Amino acid sequence: MGLVIAIDGPAASGKGTLSKRVAAAYGFAHLDTGALYRAVGVSVIRAGGDPADAEAATRAALDLHPEDGILSDPALRTDEAAQAASKVAVVPAVREALLAFQRRFAEMPPGGAPGSVLDGRDIGTVVCPSADAKLFVTASVEVRADRRLKELRERGIPAIPSDVLEDMKARDARDSQRAVAPLRPAADAFVLDTSALNADQAFDAAIAFIGSKTGLGPKA
Ligand code: DC
Repeated sequence: MGLVIAIDGPAASGKGTLSKRVAAAYGFAHLDTGALYRAVGVSVIRAGGDPADAEAATRAALDLHPEDGILSDPALRTDEAAQAASKVAVVPAVREALLAFQRRFAEMPPGGAPGSVLDGRDIGTVVCPSADAKLFVTASVEVRADRRLKELRERGIPAIPSDVLEDMKARDARDSQRAVAPLRPAADAFVLDTSALNADQAFDAAIAFIGSKTGLGPKA
């Protein structure tokens, strides 16, 4: 088993960008575990179901084949998909169904990579509790809503600031208050607040922490 780096945090905390950069720096494989939940949510919607329906969500999770390219479907990146993901994610059987794929990825990273970076909500607490380095990336809800708004506008999607903030709060509440695997930092996680940091500063802080835990240096 290669080195495992767990990066958790709320929506729009910057953990996705950070995880990709960290993985590239070490030549590790990267898994965006949120995409698994998004894929389940989108499958339920496509089948005409309601993502809040536990049975429909469980069926979709059991039928999911992440290797088939679904994780790069642009439909996963919409706000509708994000809200659907957060609804299916409260269902324990959905989480259970997605666990094996995530652990396999960490144990045997694709392409023979020497390690893996998994980002999500419960990587350090549930999926890979013995990860070599755990980060919890966060930022104030206002900063995260601002980032999300900017991202939507850059993609040409009209958005109302107060709606984006309310959606962000609703998702935070659902993710952190659910009974199974709620969003919270692992006891041994390094909490990285990116409210006042740019992407480079967040990356430097992450690399310094990971280096201190693992002795790894970024690839030349
Ligand atoms: O990271 P993201 O915004 O793509 O995640 C979408 C939703 O999926 C998120 O609101 C909660 C859920 N999720 C989860 O419960 N556990 C994970 N490891 C990753 C995502």
